[in-house]
Amino acid sequence: MNIRAAAAADRDAIWKIFHEVVAAADTYAIDPKISREEALAYWFGAGTRTYVAESQGRIVGTYILRPNQSGGGSHVANAGFMVVPEARGQGMGRAMGEHSLNEARRLGFRAMQFNFVVSTNQSAVRLWQELNFEIVGTLPGAFRHPEKGYVDVYVMYRFLSG
Ligand SMILES: CC(C)(COP(=O)(O)OP(=O)(O)OC[C@H]1O[C@@H](n2cnc3c(N)ncnc32)[C@H](O)[C@@H]1OP(=O)(O)O)[C@@H](O)C(=O)NCCC(=O)NCCS
Repeated sequence: MNIRAAAAADRDAIWKIFHEVVAAADTYAIDPKISREEALAYWFGAGTRTYVAESQGRIVGTYILRPNQSGGGSHVANAGFMVVPEARGQGMGRAMGEHSLNEARRLGFRAMQFNFVVSTNQSAVRLWQELNFEIVGTLPGAFRHPEKGYVDVYVMYRFLSG
């Protein structure tokens, strides 16, 4: 597997992954009907670094890294991750998570925060805990899950030293 900065030529592959993840409506608080243009504007937004993970020449995952806030909050990174359903459970998410932590350290961030981890997204919650993120807050019923109804959302955080 190879993780690298995304190029313009990766936009189609990224949209395909993004669309599939968002259409499922069970992990991201993003309109499942978002257009390709809006999605790519978000994923390649100003101040956002965009990466892709390739396996056997195919893009199977993508992530973004950016400051979580501006000004006095800009030393805390934020990231978002997506892996194609057929490539999940094979270590792609973990590799991208570790890559993002190294990138964040390299860029001088002091901590990383995930603002909206849906509590029913067990693979994500477990993965982030394994990467030493702590649940620092719970937002009661902050996500409307398509099957489970109103479920809690976690804010997860870790320092980057060490
Ligand atoms: C969350 C996501 C990025 C994880 O990617 P992945 O490639 O499947 O993750 P990995 O294969 O690296 O698995 C890492 C860990 O996740 C957990 N995990 C993976 N599949 C799981 C499953 N079906 N059930 C529970 N935990 C699971 C395990 O803890 C695993 O650790 P291990 O390697 O020790 O077994 C991926 O599932 C995804 O894109 N989901 C949709 C979008 C999303 O939820 N993004 C994150 C929002 S916070």
